[in-house]
Amino acid sequence: MPILERVSALGDEAQTRILTLLERSEFTVSELCSVLQLAQPSVSRHLKSLASDGWVEARIDGRNRHYRLSPALDEPARALWRIVRDEIAASGAYAADGERARSVLDRRRLRSTAFFAQTAERWDSMRADLFGSATGLAPLLGLMDPAWVVGDLGTGTGALSALIAPFVRRFVGVDRSAEMLRAAAIRLADTPNVDFREGDLESLPIRDGELDLAILALVLHYVVDPPAVLAEVHRALTPGGRILLLDMRPHERGAVYSEEMGHVWPGFELERVAAWLSDAGFANPRVAPLVPDPDATGPLLFLASAIA
Ligand SMILES: C[S@@+](CC[C@H](N)C(=O)[O-])C[C@H]1O[C@@H](n2cnc3c(N)ncnc32)[C@H](O)[C@@H]1O
Repeated sequence: MPILERVSALGDEAQTRILTLLERSEFTVSELCSVLQLAQPSVSRHLKSLASDGWVEARIDGRNRHYRLSPALDEPARALWRIVRDEIAASGAYAADGERARSVLDRRRLRSTAFFAQTAERWDSMRADLFGSATGLAPLLGLMDPAWVVGDLGTGTGALSALIAPFVRRFVGVDRSAEMLRAAAIRLADTPNVDFREGDLESLPIRDGELDLAILALVLHYVVDPPAVLAEVHRALTPGGRILLLDMRPHERGAVYSEEMGHVWPGFELERVAAWLSDAGFANPRVAPLVPDPDATGPLLFLASAIA
């Protein structure tokens, strides 16, 4: 939209007061009425005019319209607005608006505080229902270095690859089961930086030093010779690269799991895992029990990490 068509709004004090508020947060019409102390028809008329000049837009949420500064505002219009705002910001009406806006925002905060005061007991299951159980650890994905090549060794159906691949340069999933890899490939069909390779952990189809991070999630208990596999993972990691190892702590269901799922190991003592990592050439092995998920029905887990 040509800049001249936008300029008239900046000569109207009510409209610049509205823009000042909407730059800070979204407001409904009734919130704007109480902050500006203007009647609803007047505020609605100003909003309509600002919307037709491209300054603001409404986000509709149920029966509420939340007004905000238009995200599509181009840079010349933003620059023009900054000049006007810096001139007027200190004047009386704007400072009073600012204080009243704080009270309106505080009222919103109180509403959420009241909600959580009644919800503490139910929040974990609400969170899982609304967003899924994987979102609990999702913020940690931000720790991934975008330059990394990550290997998921014993990748199975690629559950981790779908989560991690968008955050790293390349993701390599290795598994010896062609069927598991087929499921993983279907799941990741639209993700370009993923590469699935059929092969054994004992002789990884990975070049020396190709990986920055190697993940072995729930696979070591299938391996006949863990020290040999850990040495092989060390070879595949770049010096300074990291191994993450998730597996079961010792449990009593070894015979059943061996019969039903082919497990070789009935879990691992944490000290034994630390010693294996050191023997394989890893530095700083850390092995820690994981806090049990109250909904989990399987054995307790641990997480080990170490540096190649
Ligand atoms: C229990 S699943 C875990 C899959 C995935 N890591 C996860 O956390 O969902 C174990 C996977 O490891 C694979 N696997 C077991 N032993 C292996 C080995 N020696 N070499 C390569 N893959 C192996 C199996 O085919 C299976 O897909």
